[in-house]
Amino acid sequence: MTNLLEVNGLRKRFPIAGSRSVVQAINGVSLNIQPGETLGLVGESGSGKTTVGRCILGLIEKSDGSIQFDGRDTGSRQAQRNVSGEMQLVFQEPGESLDPRYRVGQAIEEPLLAQPMGAGERRTRVLEVAALTGLPRELLELYPTELSAGQQQRVGIARAMVTRPKLVVLDEPTSALDPTARAEIIELLMGIQKELGTSYLFISHDLSTVRFISHRVAIMYLGMIVEQGDAAKVFAEPRHPYSAGLLSAVLLPHPDFSFDTSVNLSGEIPSPINLPEGCFLAKRCPFAVDRCRKEMPPPEDLGGGHIVHCFRHQEVAHLDRAADTFAEFQHEAERVLGKPPVALSM
Ligand SMILES: Nc1ncnc2c1ncn2[C@@H]1O[C@H](COP(=O)(O)OP(=O)(O)OP(=O)(O)O)[C@@H](O)[C@H]1O
Ligand SMILES: [Mg+2]
Repeated sequence: MTNLLEVNGLRKRFPIAGSRSVVQAINGVSLNIQPGETLGLVGESGSGKTTVGRCILGLIEKSDGSIQFDGRDTGSRQAQRNVSGEMQLVFQEPGESLDPRYRVGQAIEEPLLAQPMGAGERRTRVLEVAALTGLPRELLELYPTELSAGQQQRVGIARAMVTRPKLVVLDEPTSALDPTARAEIIELLMGIQKELGTSYLFISHDLSTVRFISHRVAIMYLGMIVEQGDAAKVFAEPRHPYSAGLLSAVLLPHPDFSFDTSVNLSGEIPSPINLPEGCFLAKRCPFAVDRCRKEMPPPEDLGGGHIVHCFRHQEVAHLDRAADTFAEFQHEAERVLGKPPVALSM
């Protein structure tokens, strides 16, 4: 199938005011998303997830690389105008992204004002999308502050869906929600995708949620995707030490469960202003050898689109502790909760 979105060698540098240095926020990211597919983008804070999303949406200019959306070049503000409405963004803080002065119905209608469409047609669209996102009609007359966080996020999703986008970038859409609201929003997003075939770039550091919603997953570290592939495969058999470490670290979220971490990533994350030679993880990685400190590992395709950037991925393959831990965790959580642990957060 042809890709809806194709990103190749994306780089983004932010100049630092009053200095010659730059923040090397994105350092050669390549990814693609097919129609109707969810790609989960995970990584620690500052790894560049939001910046990737903003470059794709054309909200900031990329420094290098190419972004093709639906067969067209995009990723610059100029080009972005051409696809406006076909790509949308859902934010983390639903309350903050909604203007308190406008009623919910007006907030949902707002993205349509830029389109050649009469008031009647806009109203029909708003009602359609309200039904799609499970917002009762009377709620459209309320102000955002009168809604719960979960309802506010439904409005955020309705606002994004009202232009019938092909791709929605969801930047931590459930991080500000309680577990019940989080599970409901995930269910809603999956339902919309099933019905309309919308593609998602789902940005989150909540691995349980990402695993549940994503077809494929990309793991970011210091502005690079260190590993990507089929979500079930990457979660079960991470081949990059960073993924294995992230996975084992994240598997300690619930006070009732505790496991040994399998890969202990010690040390500080290097600064994106002064990146080291070689693999960016080498200083923190228990698998690192001399070569890792000198050369940047190229992408290696392990088959089936499972791509890893690591000279030592074969050694990581022998370590199945993370997979065991995850399976154990899922199993335990399901037993205790009586359902899959979608709602658990970091
Ligand atoms: N406008 C900016 N000017 C300078 N540096 C920036 C700017 N925006 C982001 N950065 C830097 O780029 C890097 C990536 O930031 P980004 O916000 O994309 O990370 P993130 O993965 O989304 O983090 P989080 O999980 O905290 O949201 C960070 O080092 C950040 O400080
Ligand atoms: Mg972010």
